[in-house]
Amino acid sequence: MNVIFLSPSYPFEMQDYVRGLAEVGANVYAVGEGPLAPKLHPYVHEYLQVPKLFQEADLITRVCTWAKGKDIHRVEALWEPLMMSAAHIRAKLGLPGMTPDTVLGFRDKSIMKQRVKAAGLRVPHAFRCTSTKQIKEAAEKIGYPLIIKPIAGAGSADTYRVDDKQRLEQVCQLVRHVQEVSCEEFIDGREFTYDTVCVGGIPRYENVAEYLPRPLIARSNEWISPIIITVKDLHQEHIKQGIKLGRGVLKALNMGDGFTHMEWYLTPKGEVVFGEIGCRPGGAHLVDQMNFTSDIDLFREWARAVCWKDVRIEKPRQNNVAIIFKRAIGKGKIHRITGLHSFLEKYGSTVVVENLRKPGQMRRDWKQTLVSDGFVILRHPNWDITKYLAEKFAVNVQLYAQ
Ligand SMILES: Nc1ncnc2c1ncn2[C@@H]1O[C@H](COP(=O)(O)OP(=O)(O)O)[C@@H](O)[C@H]1O
Ligand SMILES: [Mg+2]
Repeated sequence: MNVIFLSPSYPFEMQDYVRGLAEVGANVYAVGEGPLAPKLHPYVHEYLQVPKLFQEADLITRVCTWAKGKDIHRVEALWEPLMMSAAHIRAKLGLPGMTPDTVLGFRDKSIMKQRVKAAGLRVPHAFRCTSTKQIKEAAEKIGYPLIIKPIAGAGSADTYRVDDKQRLEQVCQLVRHVQEVSCEEFIDGREFTYDTVCVGGIPRYENVAEYLPRPLIARSNEWISPIIITVKDLHQEHIKQGIKLGRGVLKALNMGDGFTHMEWYLTPKGEVVFGEIGCRPGGAHLVDQMNFTSDIDLFREWARAVCWKDVRIEKPRQNNVAIIFKRAIGKGKIHRITGLHSFLEKYGSTVVVENLRKPGQMRRDWKQTLVSDGFVILRHPNWDITKYLAEKFAVNVQLYAQ
């Protein structure tokens, strides 16, 4: 099994997928910018260093030339901006796996919604707009509150809730630099993920996690310590509804082998509504959280899925796993952390990772990275206790910078 893998060293977690591929018996032909991370040398069979991963045409030509005579079986990428390049390389080499058209359904939020809607599933009522005039016309049809966000967005960037006409005027100015926006019905309620590892579009592993609070709120208020908790018990009625929606979405978008990461909303009336989906894993350590939920290794099981169409996860979900991201108070260098010692003294047995920035390190830009100034991951079999501890950590532990 010879597998081409794009960008093995960055983002950091890619290194674990390369390890997973090697562990399930694949020869990894890695393609990246810059030198290969030293840690990866034992796992990589051959390395192609390219000048720029994001010059798509150049990347495709280089990789296809390099692949000649190598008997390549798979081409994989797990980093969102490279998903389409991987699909083009597969198509050019005549290899199995998701086609550019299928990947488009997971990349273009408007086409995505159209395909999901065409399958009879509930999506927010939305319009694709390229001018202020179109936004205003869409707003007339949708009514308030509504959401304006980029068609090709990520991390809640340039995303706004609009409650009235006055705010619409302001937001029209704020999104002037965005080429194309989606103007859509605001869906009130709770927000969850639905994550899978699929073989032939059939989920062989499933996960649900809840965002506390909703990402748009967490990304708009610096004082908040965002929390995400994986849900141990997937048999609760509202969660089952979300999973059912998710399975329908996978079918509608013709999912193949590998990871998916979907977001969905649960309204106060109990309706489940599609948000968005990628054919890649969730970021910000969500895969670590899923691994801690059942003590499994999804990096390796993803590799088994794409190489051998098999996933081996026998262990049950044992824990709810919470990640709590911290944002330091103040600017500059972190100089003090309060509350951590006493939290660990009391609840340390639930903490599986403590990865906060340390005194002396610079603050990160909380708008640029969800991980911000670090995080802890903790777990407990009981949902209420997990949530209680996560909120306690969010409130009681503070980092200060100056
Ligand atoms: N139609 C909607 N109704 C309510 N909230 C929304 C809607 N669309 C987006 N949001 C909020 O904005 C956040 C970011 O939007 P999303 O579509 O997930 O884009 P991305 O995560 O790629 O930036 C969501 O997590 C959600 O909190
Ligand atoms: Mg999102």
